[in-house]
Amino acid sequence: MIYLNGDFMPLEEARIPVLDRGFIFGDGVYEVIPVYSRKPFRLAEHLLRLRHSLDGIRLPNPHSDDEWTSLVEQIIARNESDDQYLYLHITRGVAKRDHAFPKDVLPTVFIMSNPLLAPPKELLTTGVAAITTGDNRWLRCDIKAISLLPNVLLRQMAIDAGAVETVLLRDGFMTEGAASNIFVVRNETLLAPPKNNLMLPGITYDVVLELAAAHNIAYQVRAVSEYEVRTAQELLLTSSTKEIMPITHLDGKPVGDGKPGSMFALLYQLYQNYKITIMRGGASIS
Ligand code: PDD
Repeated sequence: MIYLNGDFMPLEEARIPVLDRGFIFGDGVYEVIPVYSRKPFRLAEHLLRLRHSLDGIRLPNPHSDDEWTSLVEQIIARNESDDQYLYLHITRGVAKRDHAFPKDVLPTVFIMSNPLLAPPKELLTTGVAAITTGDNRWLRCDIKAISLLPNVLLRQMAIDAGAVETVLLRDGFMTEGAASNIFVVRNETLLAPPKNNLMLPGITYDVVLELAAAHNIAYQVRAVSEYEVRTAQELLLTSSTKEIMPITHLDGKPVGDGKPGSMFALLYQLYQNYKITIMRGGASIS
């Protein structure tokens, strides 16, 4: 079951007018929220980032956090899997095609759920391949915009190369992946680029840094150069749907010894333990 503009219905029955500004202009924002054992993961943080995205495109938030929470709970209850990922999508509504904002138009609000499948164990033991390329996106990558054409093209470059992700470089520094955040490990230290307008402030990224802080793992949040990426001990990618994954080959060359490293193993385990605490009703990282 999905939610569209006030109603719950099967996905097959959902319809939107062709003049929806999401369809015409890609004029909207979205969120992806993982759900474990029917509990939304870091919901408050996802709703805060949604607010940031809506503010970024000057679209008034159609719902209070309580209303969003209630919609999220209803969608979870109406779908089968215990582990799901929710997709929330808000556009500037339906109006005659004109770039300028329409007046007195209601936004389109769409929520769907899909089963959340853990990454195959095999990928966690062998790691995945990634490629690098220049980051040619706009300068507001902190907004989770539905206009994802650059990300689609950048991700497809990886797929065409037999890899799973594209690591993006801008002006000699790493920004993020086409649909993930990227961490670098050097000298047993976890390096993360600072959140700014050039990357999406990942919710999983925050969890990883909180886990590092709570477990005395050395980490630095600072600009990471292309050279540091290319000579890394380990590379990790994070996202709500992929959690934490080891990148073991970059542009066809092994990262470190070409196997998932000890930082990955530790953070993966801490992340799994944290999920279990959350499912049992705990919240804070300690
Ligand atoms: N994408 N950077 C980009 C460009 C992303 O698209 C994503 C996630 C992330 C990771 O953010 P988070 O940890 O909050 O999922 C970073 C989602 C999963 C998607 O578009 O499907």
